[in-house]
Amino acid sequence: VILLNAKKLAAEKAVEFVHNGMIVGLGTGSTAYYAILKIAERIKEGLNIQAVASSKQSEDLANQLGIPLVPFSEIDSIDITIDGADEVDHRFNLIKGGGGALLREKILAASSKKFIVIIDESKFVNQLGKFPLPIEIVPFASELTIKKLELLQCKPTIRQQSGKEYITDNGNLIVDCVFEELNPNVLNEQIKSIPGVVEHGLFIKMTDKVIIGKNDGTLRYL
Ligand code: 5RP
Repeated sequence: VILLNAKKLAAEKAVEFVHNGMIVGLGTGSTAYYAILKIAERIKEGLNIQAVASSKQSEDLANQLGIPLVPFSEIDSIDITIDGADEVDHRFNLIKGGGGALLREKILAASSKKFIVIIDESKFVNQLGKFPLPIEIVPFASELTIKKLELLQCKPTIRQQSGKEYITDNGNLIVDCVFEELNPNVLNEQIKSIPGVVEHGLFIKMTDKVIIGKNDGTLRYL
C-alpha cells in the first residue's frame, strides 16, 4: 500500500506539467494509472487537452474516464508523455515493458517534446538489468530469433499469461531476457539488429525528467 502511494505521489506531480491545449501521451501500468486518473480529474475541473494512449489498457481507461483521445494519424507530435518504468539509472536510461506495452510506449516517447518518467524509489538503480529486459519479437521463427538473443549472453524466457504465451497489442510475443552484463548503449544497437526483433525495452536518451515518489511521502527529481 505504501509503495502504491509513492507511485501516486510521483504521478500526480507529473500531471502538474500538463497544460491547456496540449496533446498528452498516456503511459501504461500501475504508476501511469494514477497519472491518467489525475488528468481525468483535471479535465472535469476544466482542463482542455487531447490524449494518445500507449496501450489498449490505457485507451480503455481513458475512454471510461472521459479523456478525449485522438488517433495517432491525426497528430504530428505529442507535447508531453507521462509514463512509468521498471528500472531507471543515473544516466536516465530505462528498462520498460514490464506491462508489455514497450513498443507503443517507445513510439510515443520518441514523438514527445517532453517525456516524464514516474517511479517509486525502488526502481532507481545503479545498474540496469536486475529486471529482465522485455523484448518484443514477431511470432514467425521465434525460436531462431531467441537463439540469436542467446548469443548476446542472455537467458530468455517467453512471457506467459494464464498458461499461454502472452500476446502484445501488436500481436507479437515478449521475451524477458536476463543478461550476464547489461551495457545499455551496446545492447540497444545489438538487439535491434536481429531480424525478428520488433523493439526492446531499453529507452536510451529519451527521458527529459524523472520524478521519484518516496515511501516517506517526499519527492525527488532528476
Ligand atoms: C509497461 C511499462 C510500465 O511503465 C512499467 O512496467 C512500469 O509499470 P508499473 O508502473 O506498473 O510498475 O513499461 O510496458
